[in-house]
Amino acid sequence: MALLEIAKLGNPILRKIAEPIAVEECRDPAFQLFLDDMIETMQKRDGVGLAAPQVFRSKQAIVIHSGSSSRYPDAPDVSLLVLLNPRLTFLSEEKVEGWEGCLSLDNLRGKVPRSLRVTVDGFNRSMEPMSFEAEGFLSVVLQHEIDHLQGKVFLDRMEDFSTLTHLAEFERYWIPQPTEVV
Ligand code: NI
Repeated sequence: MALLEIAKLGNPILRKIAEPIAVEECRDPAFQLFLDDMIETMQKRDGVGLAAPQVFRSKQAIVIHSGSSSRYPDAPDVSLLVLLNPRLTFLSEEKVEGWEGCLSLDNLRGKVPRSLRVTVDGFNRSMEPMSFEAEGFLSVVLQHEIDHLQGKVFLDRMEDFSTLTHLAEFERYWIPQPTEVV
C-alpha cells in the first residue's frame, strides 16, 4: 500500500467532474489496490473521508471512515465505507450548519449548510449496488465527498465567508467542537 499525494485547491483536477467507474475497471486488481491506497491515505492523514480526485484520479470513488481519535475525540463512529458512482437524494429541505475542513484546503475551516438527511445510491468495491439513508455527521461527510466528484469544494457551499478561518484561529477564537477534515 502507498500513501498518495493530495491535490490542493487550485489544481484543476479538483474542478473536473469525475468519470463513473466501469465494472471491468473495478475488477482490475490495480484499481482495488488504488482503493486500499485511498483508505490508507485518508487514515494516515487523519481525514474522515477522501474522494479520488483529491488523489489525482478523476473517478467517482469515495472512502469514508471515522472514529474517536486523539485528534478528534468526539468524532462519531462511522465504519469503513467505500462507495463507487454514488448518487445523492436530499430528503429534507432543512439544512444545518456545521464546521468543515478538507485535506485539499490545508488548515482552513468554515461553516457550511448541509441537508440534514440524504439517501445515497451507489456501488460497493465489488460493484454490488448499495442504497442507504444517512443523517447527521455521515450525511455531511457524504455530501462533502460527493461534491468533490462534481468538482465542488466546501467553499462553494458556504453562504458567506465570515466564518472562513485558519485552524490556529479556529482553535483560538471559535468554540472547539468536532470538525470534519474530509
Ligand atoms: Ni474535501
